[in-house]
Amino acid sequence: MSSPAPLANAPPPSVRAATRDDLPEMARLAAQLVRLHHEFDPLRFFVQEPIEPGYTWWFGRELQNPSAVLLVAEQPSSQGPRIVGYAYGCLEERDWNALLDACAYLHDILVTPEARQTGVAAQLLETIAERFKEKGAPRMVLQTATNNIAAQRLFKKHGFREIMIEMTRELGFAFEIGGHDVAHHRARCARPGLPSVRARSQARCARSREALLFGAEMVQCA
Ligand SMILES: CC(C)(COP(=O)(O)OP(=O)(O)OC[C@H]1O[C@@H](n2cnc3c(N)ncnc32)[C@H](O)[C@@H]1OP(=O)(O)O)[C@@H](O)C(=O)NCCC(=O)NCCS
Repeated sequence: MSSPAPLANAPPPSVRAATRDDLPEMARLAAQLVRLHHEFDPLRFFVQEPIEPGYTWWFGRELQNPSAVLLVAEQPSSQGPRIVGYAYGCLEERDWNALLDACAYLHDILVTPEARQTGVAAQLLETIAERFKEKGAPRMVLQTATNNIAAQRLFKKHGFREIMIEMTRELGFAFEIGGHDVAHHRARCARPGLPSVRARSQARCARSREALLFGAEMVQCA
C-alpha cells in the first residue's frame, strides 16, 4: 500500500494542549493506534470495537487529570485547522513490580500518514517532555512494539534508550467476559486495600472497563 502524498506547501503544524473539542478527532487517531498494534500481534494487543466512543470518554476524563498531558498537533488549512497528530502521557507512581520509579509514561503518539516525516512527532515529543519536566518528572518512559521500526528510530533520535524486551507466551485459551471471569477481572482491576496498585495497569484496566461498557467480549488486563 503506498503512503499518502505529503501535504504540499502546507504551513507547519503547531502543538497545543488538547481541549474537549478535540476529543472526537483524538479518539479517531487513538483507534488507528489500537488497530495498528492489533495488526502487529493480534494475540498480544486486543482490539475492542467500537474503539472511538471509549477513547472519547477516556480522554475526556484524562483532560481533568492533573497528572495527564494530552497534546494535539494542528495544521492550518484552507478548510480550517485540522489535527494531524496527538500525544498522551501521564505521571505514574513508583511501580515496585517493574522496579520502575515514579516517571512520566508516554502512552500514545501518532501522526496522520500525510503529515509524517515532517517533524510533527518530534514537536509532540519535545513538547510533552517539557510539560512533564514542568510537572517534576525525572524521566519519560514508553513501550514500543519490536516491529515498529519507525517509532524506535524516532524515540532513539530523541534520546530514549532501549531497556526492556517484553516476551509473551500463549497458554492456549482466551477468556470470555461473563460470570466468574468478569468478577475476576474486576477484582484484579480494583484490588481493594492494596495502596500500591500499579498506575499503568490501572490506566489499562480503566480503558478495559470502558470496553466493558461498550459491549466487550474479551478483555486482557496486564
Ligand atoms: C512513528 C511516528 C509517530 C513518527 O512520526 P513522524 O511525524 O513521521 O516523525 P518525525 O517526522 O517527527 O521524525 C522523523 C524521524 O522519525 C523516524 N521515522 C519516522 N518515520 C520513519 C520511517 N518510516 N522509517 C524509519 N524511521 C522513521 C526517523 O528517526 C526520522 O528521522 P530521520 O529520518 O532523520 O532518521 C509515525 O510514523 C506514526 O504515527 N506511526 C504510527 C503510530 C505509531 O507507531 N506510534 C508510536 C507507537 S509506540
